[in-house]
Amino acid sequence: MACQPWSAAVTLVGTSGWGRVVQTVCGLLRHGVGALSDGDGAREAALLLRHVLKASEAWLIAHANDPVGDDGAAAYKALIERRARGEPVAYLTGTRGFHALELHVAPDVLVPRPETELLVDLALARIPARGPDGAAPRRNPGQCAKAPPEVSATSMSPARRAGSAVPVCNPVNAVAAPLPGGYGIADLGTGSGAVALAIARARPDTRVLATDASDAALAIARGNARRLNLTNVEFRQGDWCAALGDASFDLIVSNPPYIAGSDPHLREGDLRFEPHAALASGADGLDAIRVIVRDGRAHLRGGGWLLFEHGFEQGPAVRELLAAHGYAEIFTERDLEGRERVSGGRAVPPSLREEG
Ligand SMILES: C[S@@+](CC[C@H](N)C(=O)[O-])C[C@H]1O[C@@H](n2cnc3c(N)ncnc32)[C@H](O)[C@@H]1O
Repeated sequence: MACQPWSAAVTLVGTSGWGRVVQTVCGLLRHGVGALSDGDGAREAALLLRHVLKASEAWLIAHANDPVGDDGAAAYKALIERRARGEPVAYLTGTRGFHALELHVAPDVLVPRPETELLVDLALARIPARGPDGAAPRRNPGQCAKAPPEVSATSMSPARRAGSAVPVCNPVNAVAAPLPGGYGIADLGTGSGAVALAIARARPDTRVLATDASDAALAIARGNARRLNLTNVEFRQGDWCAALGDASFDLIVSNPPYIAGSDPHLREGDLRFEPHAALASGADGLDAIRVIVRDGRAHLRGGGWLLFEHGFEQGPAVRELLAAHGYAEIFTERDLEGRERVSGGRAVPPSLREEG
């Protein structure tokens, strides 16, 4: 008989405590679904049982009527109760998938979000892939000034809308020339290392510097790099761009905290369990972004990009900030739900700045 835990959940909720749960795979799943009535209960109950039994999804299906031992059942019930109180599933299992990586996570780091994969994809689109001869392609520095003033179809040409006088060119073909010794990337506020490690794995010929203010977060990120055998990533503790010293980069990425400090969501659901410093940033949520936009420019090589995630209502404000600090080719990309999610701009090479 196939297990359909969600169909029986209602019967169990409210009519039984754990005492009456049939201690089979299916019986435990049914109770878990009932206890996790908010949101994605069926998926989360299955994830937690798989974690306890160290089993695959296929195994759960094939063994739906198998008995589960007392220790396993007790461990699962404890996790379900913690989840019902709001602890993120990723903290309970200690892992979260991100951009095809399996990352270790713990309460010292933000749980990486699927929407942040957009930041990684936009970064990868700007990093030159090696050519057939193994050499990274170089951009003709003059190409940017002569390119048409439209940006990509999905972008919004905000530089023009904001009345910015900075030159605009087509970012699809334009990649910054690599630093001697490799294309240099910085990830500011790396947390679990999600963004830095996804980029480092997809572009093994680049060098990535991942920073965070939190030593505890950096310890987790370093552990993830080790487990994934990624040797092209370095880690450094420090406050935003101060951690970069006097180094310059072809690309700076960041998923900074961007929630307003008074936002009531910070006191609800999973957010209550994540580090406050990873989520909130001043009265309007823009404190960290202001610093990164202001100071990032000095750490970009000519033609280099700054890309960062932000709140879906912060697009106009961050484009204005980018324009005020002289970035070119300012753009905003929307997430799968059509919400403004990642913005960025480009450092104008000195020669073009004089022409502009
Ligand atoms: C939204 S989390 C992003 C974590 C990770 N990059 C991700 O996308 O999953 C923001 C990170 O910024 C770090 N952070 C907060 N304030 C910082 C500061 N002043 N300087 C550097 N990092 C900071 C936090 O510790 C946290 O790890």
